[in-house]
Amino acid sequence: MSKAFMEVKNLSVTFRNDGIFSSGEVKAVKNVSFSLRKGEVLGIVGQSGSGKTTVGRAILGLVPYSGNLNFYGKRTSCMFQDPLASLHPYLSIRRQLLDIVPDEERVKNLFKKFNLDYETIGKKKPSQLSGGQRQRVIIIRSLLNEPDLIIADEPISMLDVTLKMWVLKALRELKETYGLSMLFITHDLLTTKYICDRIMVMKDGEIIEMGTLEEIFSSPKEDYTNELLEAIPKV
Ligand SMILES: Nc1ncnc2c1ncn2[C@@H]1O[C@H](COP(=O)(O)OP(=O)(O)OP(=O)(O)O)[C@@H](O)[C@H]1O
Ligand SMILES: [Mg+2]
Repeated sequence: MSKAFMEVKNLSVTFRNDGIFSSGEVKAVKNVSFSLRKGEVLGIVGQSGSGKTTVGRAILGLVPYSGNLNFYGKRTSCMFQDPLASLHPYLSIRRQLLDIVPDEERVKNLFKKFNLDYETIGKKKPSQLSGGQRQRVIIIRSLLNEPDLIIADEPISMLDVTLKMWVLKALRELKETYGLSMLFITHDLLTTKYICDRIMVMKDGEIIEMGTLEEIFSSPKEDYTNELLEAIPKV
């Protein structure tokens, strides 16, 4: 097995709330340690509020944390849950993507890969797109700087089932072609099956179980993991 590409040691994040109605501390992430190999996709799953997003935000340096982070790659990029908030509202999609990489062919190829029509979508502003179209634009944007690590926080939650499959397939191809590593944050355990190599299960800010896809799905050790698995709709 190849050496670690990213190492996270004893990562902790504490939020201090000084609100009028409530005050105190929230220990959102407690002593989380894990490593990631090049080309590996690690799924982070767990109930709402378990600290998944906070782990991703700490790695990106968006929240203060304690602990050690070592990253041996070149560039990170992120895909977030709320695409409207992370796109420029007044610029056309084409303009804001070409501002990042002035290579129209490359942008067009990515549009094709994610099943979007460049000619029509490129001209529009973010508010003129559907949620699913916007989400795919965010995915495309996050790939433009040729990252070797992507923090993906619920990147496909707004897509319908067919599109979800399409996007997962495209991401998997990119992972296989470019050896892209990814932290894939989701509360939907089913989607991890199509993209993740390993899964880390979080509860109340801690890792309670970590294993390969096979281990987690066929012999989960924790009751909590079992509950998450049972919550997957049966087809
Ligand atoms: N900026 C913040 N200030 C204060 N508390 C926060 C902040 N961000 C997150 N928290 C708290 O930290 C805990 C973990 O939140 P986090 O967003 O990481 O959960 P999550 O696992 O991503 O949940 P979800 O599945 O709903 O996205 C929660 O209790 C949340 O309320
Ligand atoms: Mg979250």
